[in-house]
Amino acid sequence: MVSRSGGDDPAGAGSVSKTLAGVTGGTVSAYPGVAFSAVSSDAEQPGPANHDLAAMRVGYGHQGIAGPSEESDLDAEQLTDGWLPLMRRWLEDAVEAGIPEPNAMTLGTVDENGHPCTRTVLCKGLSSAGVLFFTNYDSDKGRQLAAVPYASATFTWVPIAKQITVRGPAERVSAEVTDEYWHSRPRGSRLGAWASEQSRPIGSRTELDAALLHVAERFRVDVDIPVRPNWGGILIRPEVVEFWQGRANRMHNRIRTSRHGDGWTVERLQP
Ligand SMILES: Cc1cc2nc3c(=O)[nH]c(=O)nc-3n(C[C@H](O)[C@H](O)[C@H](O)COP(=O)(O)O)c2cc1C
Repeated sequence: MVSRSGGDDPAGAGSVSKTLAGVTGGTVSAYPGVAFSAVSSDAEQPGPANHDLAAMRVGYGHQGIAGPSEESDLDAEQLTDGWLPLMRRWLEDAVEAGIPEPNAMTLGTVDENGHPCTRTVLCKGLSSAGVLFFTNYDSDKGRQLAAVPYASATFTWVPIAKQITVRGPAERVSAEVTDEYWHSRPRGSRLGAWASEQSRPIGSRTELDAALLHVAERFRVDVDIPVRPNWGGILIRPEVVEFWQGRANRMHNRIRTSRHGDGWTVERLQP
């Protein structure tokens, strides 16, 4: 294992918000003996300094980033037919806007200590049943979802001023659903899934490349590569879906729909 010094900022990026808390000037710290300042002397560090980060902002709506032209305000009425049609429309907007990996979503799970863990996965299916992605069931996320089968997933599309968050129980899909998707994947992706013990440590890049070579030799080019054991789909069945649309002066539109038994409520949230 390689360890490096964490530097002198135990709060990491949190120092920015601590800095912002000190709007009256001077420094503020929740950590005894540690000072945070918007003009702190981190200029010798590579990359943007804290004061640059604190100054980074874009406007939404008429102040800057907006959705498709002439887009009206997001409203509860747009959810009359449920969350699915609007989510499909927004995904389509993201595709049309040319956003790379428009189906990427930040997946949140909790570990055995109740601590949140996030990472990006690709949404590979959307239906009234829910939001589908594929992964290694023995990965950290796979094991966390086996223990606590509940997930949160957020699609962020800044260039069109939109975000959607979905939350709900998560379950493994049938072998048939996994099989169908698996066989739509390129050979290289299938070999990669076989070669990687996802989330486990490995000594070097060389060992990883050797693992790929090994499976490439095992599965000849003319041979069908079977689904890797313990690899497959996970379906998040939404019980809360929130739509966010950026607007000027941080007065964004937020509409949340939540399932209660067989029905759904729709409410507007303050930004
Ligand atoms: C754009 C993007 C898409 C990704 N898609 C997937 C995916 O669909 N499934 C997956 O298992 N990992 C995907 N990954 C890798 C995950 O973010 C993560 O590194 C990996 O799944 C291990 O996560 P875990 O250790 O928390 O289980 C993707 C990463 C990026 C940046």
